[in-house]
Amino acid sequence: MRYDPIDPGFFTANRKNYISKLEGKSLAIFHSNDEFPRNGDQNFPFRQQSDLFYLSGIDQEETILLMAPGHPNIDFREILFVKETSEQIAIWEGQKLTKEKAAQVSGIKAIHWTKDFDLFLKDLMVWASKIYLNSNEYPKYNNPVPYKDLRFANELKEQYPTHDFQRSAPLMMELRKIKSDIEINLIKKAGEITAKAFERVLKALKPGMPEYHVQAEIEYAFAINGANGNAYRPIIASGANTCVLHYVDNDSICNDGDLLLMDFGAEYANYAADITRTIPVNGRFTKRQKECYESVLRVHDKAIQLLVPGTTIDAFNKEVNKMMEEEMIGLGLFSKNDVEKQDAKKPLYMKYFMHGTSHPIGLDVHDVGSKYNPLQAGMVLTCEPGLYIREENIGIRIENNILVTKDRPVNLTEQIPVEVEEIERMMRR
Ligand code: GLY
Ligand code: MN
Ligand code: MN
Repeated sequence: MRYDPIDPGFFTANRKNYISKLEGKSLAIFHSNDEFPRNGDQNFPFRQQSDLFYLSGIDQEETILLMAPGHPNIDFREILFVKETSEQIAIWEGQKLTKEKAAQVSGIKAIHWTKDFDLFLKDLMVWASKIYLNSNEYPKYNNPVPYKDLRFANELKEQYPTHDFQRSAPLMMELRKIKSDIEINLIKKAGEITAKAFERVLKALKPGMPEYHVQAEIEYAFAINGANGNAYRPIIASGANTCVLHYVDNDSICNDGDLLLMDFGAEYANYAADITRTIPVNGRFTKRQKECYESVLRVHDKAIQLLVPGTTIDAFNKEVNKMMEEEMIGLGLFSKNDVEKQDAKKPLYMKYFMHGTSHPIGLDVHDVGSKYNPLQAGMVLTCEPGLYIREENIGIRIENNILVTKDRPVNLTEQIPVEVEEIERMMRR
């Protein structure tokens, strides 16, 4: 692993919290992600399923976690299955986890090879009445390819149609939405690496540079500082591309006089940072770019203060939209009078600001959580207002990662330069 070992007590506590939510003779099963096929004999790089990682710390394919906390046999209450390793596998693929190492990482005592999972499952299914299965319930997830937990759920239900099947997803959301100190530190570490990448870009950027060179600077800093890589596909967008919200081609030239919008974040120990900075390609904002930038920055700074316990992301978004609307009037994009006459279903601000301002981050860049539930201390969210004026090739977003606390919100990525003067000064060096 590229990251420092995580205290196994963290994963043990997560499992304890999870099983405290189970009822009756319960059996819970979590699978690791598949290895996703590329072509020929190649797979895409493996990324662990986030819930399995949260409960076990195991970062290896073909892992299964099984929990039956009420089982009379103590050895069956918590079992981890890992891919069998052998001399032959070690020669070709390097050292996989041994049983001892898997126990050390996860804090689980009963470790078996994955090939023996079916035997244990059959035995446990006779004892269990409630079966908790995992599923990806992210509201915008619509990939038609079935993932491992989903295929397993369908197979198990077919084999055991009369068991009582339950969802793990809502329980996992309750747990994962509040970050422990260990998790906050890992997110901070991802933010620190992301800060280093931004500093590299400020030094390296010059007119005429392709966007993918900027991406290379970022990825170099990620790799050299021990990140797994990008927490998501980075958006490196210059000129007109700054107004394309999910631009990821990153293959245009950064031209003199244009803005460069970079939405990027390191993943460290599977935890994400997610920041956006917008800078002038030649090191100096034009007057118009600066006034637009400062509008977004004012809203960003005020919005952070609204991320407090009790509010919801939905309510927060509405407040920020109002603030952005005010700024747009100030920038001459439309008038107060236009707003009074607007169609309430198609407010004018939506032409220039069409996305939400916050989402939870953690093990996933768009982490578990509902935008309708009240915020609580311990949540980590982004604050990311934007302004996209296509007719002027001005797209600006400023994004930071904010910890909700009982008191004032804490900006975990505060060290990453954001003020106009600071960015211009650092680009002059
Ligand atoms: N980087 C994705 C987002 O900002 O939500
Ligand atoms: Mn982002
Ligand atoms: Mn974001």
